[in-house]
Amino acid sequence: MNADLLVENAGQLLTLAAPGGPKRGAALRDLGLIPGGAVAVRDQRVLAVGPSDELGKQVEAARRLDARGRVVMPGFVDPHTHLVWAGDRADEFEMRVAGASYMQIMAAGGGIMSTVRHTREAGLDELVAQTRVRLDRMLAYGTTTIEIKSGYGLNVAAELKQLEAIRRLQSQFPGTLVPTFLGAHAIPAEYQGRADEYVDLLIETMLPAAAGHLPLFCDVFCEEGAFSLAQSARILEAAQSLGFGLKIHVDEFKPLGGTRLAVELGAVSADHVVCTPLDEIELLARSGVITVALPGTPFGLGQRDYTPARAIVDAGGALALATDCNPGTCWCESMQMVIALACRYLRLTPAEAIAAATINAAHALGLGNEVGSLEPGKRADLIVLDAPSYTHLGYRFGTNLIATVIAGGQIL
Ligand code: NIG
Ligand code: FE
Repeated sequence: MNADLLVENAGQLLTLAAPGGPKRGAALRDLGLIPGGAVAVRDQRVLAVGPSDELGKQVEAARRLDARGRVVMPGFVDPHTHLVWAGDRADEFEMRVAGASYMQIMAAGGGIMSTVRHTREAGLDELVAQTRVRLDRMLAYGTTTIEIKSGYGLNVAAELKQLEAIRRLQSQFPGTLVPTFLGAHAIPAEYQGRADEYVDLLIETMLPAAAGHLPLFCDVFCEEGAFSLAQSARILEAAQSLGFGLKIHVDEFKPLGGTRLAVELGAVSADHVVCTPLDEIELLARSGVITVALPGTPFGLGQRDYTPARAIVDAGGALALATDCNPGTCWCESMQMVIALACRYLRLTPAEAIAAATINAAHALGLGNEVGSLEPGKRADLIVLDAPSYTHLGYRFGTNLIATVIAGGQIL
């Protein structure tokens, strides 16, 4: 076999192979580990995986990379971010540390609306440049596939500007960027007291405009003070009929029934899932909807309640992890940090957290056949960790463990 690249002599090669869909239950702890493994790459795709001594003989590689006993695994997949924004909310962080709650700040005109003002003012080039810095950091931390939501424009022109920023970044980014339309992130100031009229605008004008642009998914912030259950259902049903896949921010602060709605509509994912009632947790775990847990968010807000991930996994649910990277609740670009939090506050094992941050996260984007594991035919997105065993992910935090990032077969 001829290959462009052979990455060999991994101490642990984690393939994350999962032929039958997302990992559930005990399968989440099976990383498809090949001791002393190697990965052959051709035409930006994985050609073969196997023990280094076998693959080394079978493969004629133009280039070889010696992993020298370290961990080799798929690049992280981050299936929930709000990466395209302008400015910051450092002032609100100080208010929160002094005792104000996130929803109090939002009700007083700050929060998401503060970032909306900055994002509306920013030109497209500026928005691209500010986002690019965050994307580069994510890549340096080993994330090769990233979902990015709009939702800081909240009118037709500014939402399309955010989507255009994502399109431009797609052509610059060596991994994969997945756009999501989140026009239903907050009720804009000019529609205060007229929320249903904003929902009409979303359905009649904004969704069709976004559909003609590029998003794959439509998301809604279903929450008291944002969109009610009935409004969320209207928006998501309209989006579904336009061909969008569905995602929903549910039960972040107050339970409104959004998790049940996600199951009823066959959403690709239900995200946050913090204060979800037990019956809805069971419903979710039995469904095909992926739960995306975002432990950086309660951590970022200094809250005690986290996604009941243990209960979801033990009930057979498909769990994924993401950063939620945004300027308000969680400015965190690192899936390594998210894994460390998940091991502590979601009580996942390092293996479970790694599966949730790779193959299951890929399924949360409908990309389970494309990224998230090292199997022949998939994109050759892989990372070499400067660590002898995968448990160092989770165990260690605050240090970037990445030695090398390879995206689409290209060593960065
Ligand atoms: O997922 N909850 C809504 N959206 C974000 C926060 C966005 C912001 O505060 O700017 C979240 O936590
Ligand atoms: Fe979010």
